[in-house]
Amino acid sequence: MKAWIVREFGGLDVMHWEDLPVPEPGPGQVRVRVRATGMNFAETRMRAGTYSGQPLPFVVGMEAAGVVDKLGEGVEGFAVDQRVFGRARGAHAEYVCIDAEHLLPLPDNLGFEQGAAVPVGWLTAWHALHTVAALRPGQRVLIEAVASSVGSAALQIAKQRGCWVAGTASRDDKVARAREWGLDAGYNYKRENLAERIAADTGGQGVDVGLMTIGEETATMLFDSMGMGGKIVMYGSTGGRQVCFSLNIGVRNVELHSMSISTSPRFMPESMASFREIALPLFAQGVFKPVLDVVLPLAELKRAHQMIDERTHFGKIVMTV
Ligand SMILES: NC(=O)c1ccc[n+]([C@@H]2O[C@H](COP(=O)([O-])OP(=O)(O)OC[C@H]3O[C@@H](n4cnc5c(N)ncnc54)[C@H](OP(=O)(O)O)[C@@H]3O)[C@@H](O)[C@H]2O)c1
Repeated sequence: MKAWIVREFGGLDVMHWEDLPVPEPGPGQVRVRVRATGMNFAETRMRAGTYSGQPLPFVVGMEAAGVVDKLGEGVEGFAVDQRVFGRARGAHAEYVCIDAEHLLPLPDNLGFEQGAAVPVGWLTAWHALHTVAALRPGQRVLIEAVASSVGSAALQIAKQRGCWVAGTASRDDKVARAREWGLDAGYNYKRENLAERIAADTGGQGVDVGLMTIGEETATMLFDSMGMGGKIVMYGSTGGRQVCFSLNIGVRNVELHSMSISTSPRFMPESMASFREIALPLFAQGVFKPVLDVVLPLAELKRAHQMIDERTHFGKIVMTV
């Protein structure tokens, strides 16, 4: 099969589209013939060698939608030829083996391209808002980088929950697109005073939940936008791993949560289970809609990495196989 493999860390040219053996599914795994695969910010860091714990060599990719090709020992609940989607390392390939517990049936109304836009972004947003923040109807939510893969999913989840939703972006056109997806208040954090705007738009109350993903550049603005007892969920550090800011200890009352869906003990029993039960039917009903920015052939993976760096995308960059 063809796959994108990385043998040394570096720039775009360390990724090679090569012939590799088709992987065999181990116990509890399902081999999927990949039809579409999503692009994630983290992959650019894995390629560069700045993603903690990334071994070499590795096949790039973190999510796929496709058709069940072969069942590993002990797998129940899936059948050959079934349409599926899920999170899986090594997904930028013609075949990938996915742990059955991470695999979901693809709703009939979603194409493979739409399915590939869901797993990482939506499950991260779902874990942050549904599980960690325990989001309730009527709460006020602030989403940093609302045009990102995770942010655009969080926007729909929070709106569906009946929340007032604000979001930030570095460009006016991304703010405008987020408004088309239901954003109540959008701010360009490069030129607007976020805390002042949030104070004005919430009658001085601030927000109940803040999704934090950029880092030092916006941390103070986000903290200053929080309401009394608000919850901050830190899930990313797109602006760099070192983040330095004042918590204003002794003055402010906030809960600060840091999360990873890969390591959280709550992810499988709580987030995967509630996603199957609550979110999957909402996709099938057309309430939740995958947000696709562009669809490219998988052979153009290097272009997808460039687009992540350019930061003009809204939602997901998807590649077809
Ligand atoms: N904790 C977890 O379990 C988990 C799971 C999945 C993803 N993540 C993390 O979540 C974050 C978002 O992932 P994603 O795939 O949704 O990202 P994405 O679609 O590529 O969007 C990232 C956005 O971050 C903003 N940004 C701000 N400063 C940036 C900088 N210095 N460099 C690049 N982007 C910057 C940009 O939007 P603006 O230009 O509008 O600011 C950019 O478009 C990443 O840090 C990723 O590693 C965490």
